[in-house]
Amino acid sequence: MNVLIIGSGAREHTIAWKLKQSEYCEEVFVAPGNAGTMAYGTHASVDIHNFEEVAKFATDFNIMMLVVGQENSLVEGIHDYFQEKEYLKHILVIGPKKAGAMLEGSKDFCKAFLQKYNIPTARYQTFTENTYREAVEYLRNHTYPVVLKADGLAAGKGVIISPDFEHALDALEDMLRNKRFGNAGTKVVIEEFLEGIEVSVFILTDGKEYVLLPEAKDYKRIGEGDAGLNTGGMGAISPVPFADEVFMQKVKERVIEPTIAGMQQEGLEYSGFLFIGLIKVNNEPYVIEYNVRLGDPETEAILPRIKSDLFELFKSLHDHTLGSYKLEVDPRTAATVFLVSGGYPEGFEKGKEISGLDKVSPEVLVFHAGTKKVDDKLVNNGGRVIAVTALGNTLDEALAKANQAAETITWQGRYYRRDIGFDLRQEKV
Ligand code: AMP
Ligand code: GLY
Repeated sequence: MNVLIIGSGAREHTIAWKLKQSEYCEEVFVAPGNAGTMAYGTHASVDIHNFEEVAKFATDFNIMMLVVGQENSLVEGIHDYFQEKEYLKHILVIGPKKAGAMLEGSKDFCKAFLQKYNIPTARYQTFTENTYREAVEYLRNHTYPVVLKADGLAAGKGVIISPDFEHALDALEDMLRNKRFGNAGTKVVIEEFLEGIEVSVFILTDGKEYVLLPEAKDYKRIGEGDAGLNTGGMGAISPVPFADEVFMQKVKERVIEPTIAGMQQEGLEYSGFLFIGLIKVNNEPYVIEYNVRLGDPETEAILPRIKSDLFELFKSLHDHTLGSYKLEVDPRTAATVFLVSGGYPEGFEKGKEISGLDKVSPEVLVFHAGTKKVDDKLVNNGGRVIAVTALGNTLDEALAKANQAAETITWQGRYYRRDIGFDLRQEKV
């Protein structure tokens, strides 16, 4: 069978790499892809926001499965489009329809869902321009820090943590009045700040049954010691030592099961990954957010630990047999380190030649993100450029290999964090 993956990051490269290992998969295409995914097949140069173009590619290349890596296409309704067209109906789509994608597409919808189904989450209230005065009063009486969130998709930038009332007022004005996040900020969720340690939990579900995938921790800040600006993710570790059996049992009972029960009660058809962003506060899981896709860079750490055939797993989703699916997981630790362009997440230069890939140990996996081929040269073409993943019997062993590979691959200005996993290593001593 031929598969088409939608997206262009290291997450999509990893999904392609994993699907390519399946005996059921013939060709794997990635649209729009990057220099790394081109190695897997014809470059699918389609405009992924134009569903007609995607559909034409799918029919021309006899695609039987569509794996949607990133949230935008899901929120825009790519699954609904494929289901509604008679000639596309036979294509298995991995990723929820528009209604289910609202769990990520609207923070207000997500919070209302969490509250209705009694799933632990930070206390909140939602405001619009019409209730601006109430929002100011709410902020005046709130404890600090406080968290303000733009309702819609804002590429991970729509969350502001305010240390005091003055700061929060500015943030509120920026969002609701100055339209800093455009339409995404028409509504603002104001919520209580939770102090704890974060972990990303993933399931694959048909809205009724689910398979729990390995969890991961990602490192969002640009600087070592978790300092500086937020990024799309600088590295990831899986498994996460503090997400032990007792904690994961609580996650199943208090978060995953009520989430699935809620989907059913709401009539939310779902078929795909659900990424549950959790924060552990006094040993209790609280939901920070849902995402309707896998995480990036978490995917680069979790898929290499899954021994099962990913295509078979997807097939099981569509056959509604996930409840009896036995996922095989490598017990070793995976460490992922992201190499980024100097200056990222602010301004950076593109087009610098990347070298050293041929010197990386064959044990280490290399996943491309912002890369491009210009003639015969590989150059950086984005902020996050290449992710390297290594497996090890211990976290230290995995990190040593991943860091060595990160040091080997270079270009003018390249940067990476040398301390990925630092907090998990300290946890042990
Ligand atoms: P989100 O876009 O909802 O994932 O939020 C981005 C990041 O903001 C999260 O990964 C957390 O680090 C932080 N964050 C969001 N909500 C809260 C909260 N209620 N308390 C503390 N940190 C939060
Ligand atoms: N790693 C966080 C995300 O993919 O949204």
